[in-house]
Amino acid sequence: RAIRLSEYQNPAFLVQDVSLTFRLDPHATRVFSRISFRRNPEGPGGPLRLDGEGLRLIRAAIDGTEVQPKILPAGLEIDAPDAFTWEAEVQIDPKANTALEGLYMSNGMYCTQCEAEGFRKITYYPDRPDVMAPFEVRIESELPVLLSNGDPVERGDGYAVWRDPWKKPAYLFALVAGDLVAHSNGFTTMEGREVALNIWVRPGDEDRCAYAMDSLKRSMRWDEDAYGRAYDLDVFNIVAVDDFNMGAMENKGLNIFNARYVLASPETATDADYARIEAIVAHEYFHNWTGNRITCRDWFQLCLKEGLTVFRDQTFSGDERSHAVKRIEDVQMLRARQFREDAGPLAHPVRPTSYIEINNFYTATVYEKGAEIIGMLRRLIGEDAYREGCDLYFDRHDGQACTIEDWLKVFEDATGRDLAQFARWYAQAGTPRVTAETRIEGGTLILDLAQSLPATPGQPEKAPQVIPLAIGAIARDGTEVLPTAVVELTETAQTFRFEVGTDDAVASINRGFSAPVILDQTLSAADRALLLAHDTDPFNKWEAGRALARTALVDMIVQSGAPDRHFVDALGPVISDNAQDPAFRALALALPSDDDLAQALTDSNATPDPDAIDAARTRMQTAVATAHEGALDAVYDAMKVSGPYNPDATDAGRRALRNAALSLLTHVDGGDRARAQFAAADNMTDCLAALSALIRTGQAETELQAFHDRWQNDRLVMDKWFALQIAGAPGETGLAVAQRLVEHPAFDWKNPNRFRSVIGALGMNHASFHARSGGGYALVADWLIRLDPLNPQTTARMTTLFETWHRYDVDRQDQAKAALRRIQSTEGLSRDTSEMVSRILGE
Ligand code: ARG
Ligand code: ZN
Repeated sequence: RAIRLSEYQNPAFLVQDVSLTFRLDPHATRVFSRISFRRNPEGPGGPLRLDGEGLRLIRAAIDGTEVQPKILPAGLEIDAPDAFTWEAEVQIDPKANTALEGLYMSNGMYCTQCEAEGFRKITYYPDRPDVMAPFEVRIESELPVLLSNGDPVERGDGYAVWRDPWKKPAYLFALVAGDLVAHSNGFTTMEGREVALNIWVRPGDEDRCAYAMDSLKRSMRWDEDAYGRAYDLDVFNIVAVDDFNMGAMENKGLNIFNARYVLASPETATDADYARIEAIVAHEYFHNWTGNRITCRDWFQLCLKEGLTVFRDQTFSGDERSHAVKRIEDVQMLRARQFREDAGPLAHPVRPTSYIEINNFYTATVYEKGAEIIGMLRRLIGEDAYREGCDLYFDRHDGQACTIEDWLKVFEDATGRDLAQFARWYAQAGTPRVTAETRIEGGTLILDLAQSLPATPGQPEKAPQVIPLAIGAIARDGTEVLPTAVVELTETAQTFRFEVGTDDAVASINRGFSAPVILDQTLSAADRALLLAHDTDPFNKWEAGRALARTALVDMIVQSGAPDRHFVDALGPVISDNAQDPAFRALALALPSDDDLAQALTDSNATPDPDAIDAARTRMQTAVATAHEGALDAVYDAMKVSGPYNPDATDAGRRALRNAALSLLTHVDGGDRARAQFAAADNMTDCLAALSALIRTGQAETELQAFHDRWQNDRLVMDKWFALQIAGAPGETGLAVAQRLVEHPAFDWKNPNRFRSVIGALGMNHASFHARSGGGYALVADWLIRLDPLNPQTTARMTTLFETWHRYDVDRQDQAKAALRRIQSTEGLSRDTSEMVSRILGE
């Protein structure tokens, strides 16, 4: 049942042209296909095999003659000549499609999700990314808006025809039909093409599209400037859908989005929502070249398009906002999701070598570590060579389905550099650990570096990787004595020397987080405070503060000590130094999350106690607030933003710092400021910040009720209402809140966003999910068991809440394993969920 990379075979048949007709009906949609096939001279031979799942075959013909193919469990098979036209008529039931894969209905609208293997639920087809063809699609329906890929060809009474001239794999097919309205605009490409841009939403939502549209236009310009890539059709459509398993999908010319990543207004969306919309609109748009024009040969190569496209969207957001802040946020995310994955039973290489269900490999490792690899490549070869290699990639591989080898080869050809060792980043799972020992002798900084890579499931032995580390040094008086230089660690252990001209300096290693590694560097609290105050590299400046906080909190938890003065004092300048970017200061003021601390404790061979972690964080926040109350109050006033709401990085940064101050001050003011801010807020950022501060105090009942009453008819805002009170509840109390909210009439658990905002939010509340009683594990298991028969993909994804079970004490381990076994032994459990659960259990 496992699919293996080593067993890849070329397709037996290639497709020259596809023509589809959809006669839409909620329970009985008819799909007519007419496909011209030609035997692949490089294929394995044999009969025609087509993928198909849950289809009712009405009629099939080859070159006009009706045939009776052999129906297989997941497709059909028939002998066929070397070139022929296949015709089929199938019937499907979109309304009964609760898995949200293939053609389904959401709020009366038809939509599709085909990546990775959803097209086979629409009609019989070679549903694999290396079979590419132009598509023509005719949609028959009385619904007012009928959309598919490519450019519109014809519109008549009750039908529309679309043609996509660009060859594409079936996973990029899309169809939408519904009662929708457009927010429209236009863009002229650098090649002079006039492109009509539309964002399609349900009536009433059209005034929430302006930011997504603006993000789209900036993305289009950016891809031209940064990569020389222009858009290639006359229309670009985006559709917002309420029921969606993932964030969004890059279907050619017709991107389909989870509504939460499109719709925004100041009253309903936070600054973080705006930033995410910008990033996801850019991500899906950038796929047009990295994913669509050049796609993946097979699903093992998923990181070819995803790692690269994430890297591109991260660079775009950095260019549009602040590279320093974006890098810190991205690394926080990487550590929270990817390092966590790499450290547990689900660890897998960026390019996996086998899978049972490919949907289970849309992971932080493939996406985020995949992006880190591109960043390292660019750092190793330099920006100009990177751009040259990319140009060669687009030139050489346009219209093809490629592999990681193809990708690396263009950089070898552009630079003459051997990337064989670099390629290990794609093949070896696990987060490398780099230990750094530094000393200074006669003005020379001597750096002893060693690397190791832990064993991961299926990979006991590892070889050294090439690790680019950006290094600098700061003298005791705060001046930089070594500007950033990049060393390449290629051996298990290596020594590097730098002239620094002083005997008292502190090395700043892995600046900009130049490599996704865990750095073990023994630094005193004073050295860290020096870097926090004076490092010229903003990432390492933040990192120094983060390490101080982490060490201080771990000490509090393990030795039940008092909050460390070094750390508390070091925050003084962070709060008050107005020369520094407010957004950066907000990040530096935030403490590591409970989950980060649980991992830090695990790394130092301690067993994390969720209550103790939560209590220590609260004590530390109170200590910081008490020590700096005056300065926090001053910054709270000074950062007030006046004038109409603007989601740009400057205003968002001020709000972030102000709300970070608010969150600390709420520990000492009894919630007065938060209650006042909640009452006065005219935007969702300030409103939610106040509400979440109050929720931490356990006294937010009035405000939660008011919020509910105001927003009860707004799905996206109500998702926040559910999530915040569960995820933000103090200690174990989030469990009781979740137990109460699953009974709430608005808990529409079949909607993935709502399911995540209740069940997912419980999983995000560390102390509550890991409650000693085991009630957190049990509640999540109950709901995963309930959701699985309807929506295996979302269920399987959410089992990752359990991936850290091995960190905790034996009682908790037993409770978590019992919950996992209960899921596992459910009758008829989906392939998706059963693969995940057995991997998590280490079977
Ligand atoms: N390609 C989409 C994106 O990264 C994600 C689609 C994920 N779909 C899935 N079935 N796992 O933008
Ligand atoms: Zn993507």
